[in-house]
Amino acid sequence: MSTTFQLDTSTSRAHPTPAPMKRLTVPAIRQRKKDGHTAEPIVMLTAYTARQAQLLDAHCDILLVGDSLGQVIYGLPSSVPVTMDMMAAHGAAVVRGSYHSVVLVDMPFGAYEASPQDAFAAAARLLKDTGCAGVKLEGGAAMAETVAFLTARGIPVMGHVGLTPQAVNLLGGYNARGRSEAEAAKIVDDARALAEAGAFAIVVEGVVEPIAIAVTEAVDCPVIGIGGSARCDGQVLVAEDMLGLFERVPRFVKRYADMATTISDAAATYAAEVRARTFPGIEQTYQPK
Ligand code: KIV
Repeated sequence: MSTTFQLDTSTSRAHPTPAPMKRLTVPAIRQRKKDGHTAEPIVMLTAYTARQAQLLDAHCDILLVGDSLGQVIYGLPSSVPVTMDMMAAHGAAVVRGSYHSVVLVDMPFGAYEASPQDAFAAAARLLKDTGCAGVKLEGGAAMAETVAFLTARGIPVMGHVGLTPQAVNLLGGYNARGRSEAEAAKIVDDARALAEAGAFAIVVEGVVEPIAIAVTEAVDCPVIGIGGSARCDGQVLVAEDMLGLFERVPRFVKRYADMATTISDAAATYAAEVRARTFPGIEQTYQPK
């Protein structure tokens, strides 16, 4: 599958790629961390649609098609009901809309936990159907065998430890993890197990800051924080959170825009103009020549 797409702008609202260029690769991301140090932090955001990917791509190293799309796009109560079909459709859209970033697709709950063979079949489908460069899966030491199995068969894997949202039913909520010594030690051990199994990078989510730092220092591969620490090797946020599309702002989110207000104000102005019959105006109507 081509990594640069020239979209037909005469029939589509999509923008063409600004300039054909070589896409970043998984090894290039892995090599950003040398001797335990990442000079240039890795920038990662979620993306679920082609247009969103086009807007975010130039600013990012990694675009993650996160299973958070369950809540963000589909209004589901958690990521548990997210399906392979959803991930494949949105993954393909994000690859079509990007030309620079490494695109990773989340493996949805139920698609990979039962066996390394199941995980391989699911991951291979995501790579074939979307053109993504690799997958992300949740879980620590219990997933190490699967990470090794996929990596040995040509599928780059990003791990995910700490708060793992697919385990919400076991965890009982989305509170920060690692507050007890035993839990903190388990999170660091989980990250070590994934790194030793061949994960090229690891997300550490929703942990008390010293644990995020300990995980970052414990493994050779890059550690990407969300609700972690500025001392991680990179950061990830859900794009809609940092764009201010939701009223609820979790502690780990910084809002860089207020898109909810912008969209609501635009819709209100449009509605008022339709009701006043001032839209469409002369500029938006076709006049006889
Ligand atoms: O699903 C997702 O968006 C994620 C990120 C928040 C890391 O896993």
